[in-house]
Amino acid sequence: MKKYRIMFVCLGNICRSPLAHGIFEKLLKDANLDGVVDVESSGTSGFHRGEKPDPRMTGVAASHGVPLDHLRSQQFKKEDLENFDLILPMDRENQEHIKKMMTSKDQKEKVKLFRDYDPEGKGLEVPDPYYGGPSGFEKVYNIAERTCRSLLGDVKPLVV
Ligand code: 4NP
Repeated sequence: MKKYRIMFVCLGNICRSPLAHGIFEKLLKDANLDGVVDVESSGTSGFHRGEKPDPRMTGVAASHGVPLDHLRSQQFKKEDLENFDLILPMDRENQEHIKKMMTSKDQKEKVKLFRDYDPEGKGLEVPDPYYGGPSGFEKVYNIAERTCRSLLGDVKPLVV
């Protein structure tokens, strides 16, 4: 059976989207769903292509038992709009960037803001922690973890 494919997207693919990628990957493994759901992440920019996630993000994720060190930054491509079932940008700027690459209504329906799944902040953006202090990374972790848990609850009935 074809796997259900989810893509998380931010600007650099070194902070927010690799975090969501790592958390969701772990949740899938723990739920024995890694065989039926595929997860990826990317950035709308190619600034950090090939790089590991930001060590500040990797450190916070590791403190919560989530490994990110195996991930490498890649740029979001037009074909991803065809190849993924659900595309979740972290903020509206990146959502707009993706929208400009769309060629069909089908693709439009696949793209939703990540925090549309946040039970405590539906429709809000994930703040960019890159230029801020350490508390920003912890805050982003908390948002991403509860949003990924809720996302898994929504995706599960589609794949089991
Ligand atoms: P991300 O964070 O989009 O969550 O990966 C950023 C990473 C790098 C830059 C900005 C945001 N940057 O300007 O290089």
